[in-house]
Amino acid sequence: MKLPSSSATDLNKTNIEHMVSMKDFSVKEMDNMMELMSYLKEARKDNAVPQLFKGKSVGMIFEAGSTRTRVSFEVAATLLGGHALFLSPKDIHLGGKESIDDTSRVLSRMCDIIMARTNSPETLDGLIRMSTVPVINGLDTRFHPTQMLADLFTVKEHITDGRTLSDLTLAFMGDATDVCRSLMLTCAKYGMGFKQIGPKKYQMEQEWIDLAETYCKESGGHIEITDDVERISDCDVVYGDSFYWVTQMDEKAERLAAFMPDYVITEELMAKAKPGAMLLHCLPANDKEEVTRGALESEYSVAFDEAENRLTAQMAILVYFSHKNTQAASEATRIAHEEKITGFLAGL
Ligand code: CP
Repeated sequence: MKLPSSSATDLNKTNIEHMVSMKDFSVKEMDNMMELMSYLKEARKDNAVPQLFKGKSVGMIFEAGSTRTRVSFEVAATLLGGHALFLSPKDIHLGGKESIDDTSRVLSRMCDIIMARTNSPETLDGLIRMSTVPVINGLDTRFHPTQMLADLFTVKEHITDGRTLSDLTLAFMGDATDVCRSLMLTCAKYGMGFKQIGPKKYQMEQEWIDLAETYCKESGGHIEITDDVERISDCDVVYGDSFYWVTQMDEKAERLAAFMPDYVITEELMAKAKPGAMLLHCLPANDKEEVTRGALESEYSVAFDEAENRLTAQMAILVYFSHKNTQAASEATRIAHEEKITGFLAGL
């Protein structure tokens, strides 16, 4: 016999929106998230962030290290009146004593949002499979959607001459990383130009280029994958990322030999891009490898504005996804519960 659930949460939700990749969102939806970012950033400047995540919690699973993603989600939850829980595999049972399915079921009965940085897409997909609350991908080796919001927002903030995103071409220097893949798909949706400039061995997989090309057919964007650094000449945005990830340390020497010196972002390379081109980097940066300190500290570098906008993005993500998923109780309902409980306590 199956007993009825006594859950206080709605376990029958079928239309939960998760955030796996920006490819799952329309331009309108991405624009909405960025407009929300702009309001929340203004509110933060005025020390007046509305308490739109009050009483709510985001459970944050980190299978890999992080500075920006972790700190930005924690601070965003605090600013919005809520709480963030840092859950590393060392501290919880995930993947050891407890399956991904069961971890997801338990977290979704207690938290309002689950955010996960995983070492494999399977872990993220497993969390989503059993979750009854939105799951946000904080990087899963395929995609880095929360980074995308910060990146596009930062670019928009720094365009001061009336151009829009679709007027711009972005050059990603180096490896076909999760950030590169995410940028290619997002730029294609926005009708932007996108180039990956890197050695042939480390260029983007064809299936993702094909998907980006289908977006370009609708949006007017264009994609170019090349090993020719001179192709940077018509690019408005130059983007850097590490030449290897923590799981690729055994390939480090081979990778550095392939990428350096040709694909390193130097001041000389920036001078080859379009006049006024800006430099973004998702950070962490290694200024002895993929980017020089000189380039990173130049007036065209917006990498640290971009890092700060991770916080702007996470505030918007917590508000956007919790708003879509939970119905706020009316004041009358809240008062009715409070009176019942305080009446009970008074009678003890
Ligand atoms: N860019 C980025 O995701 O930074 P962290 O790895 O520090 O979170």
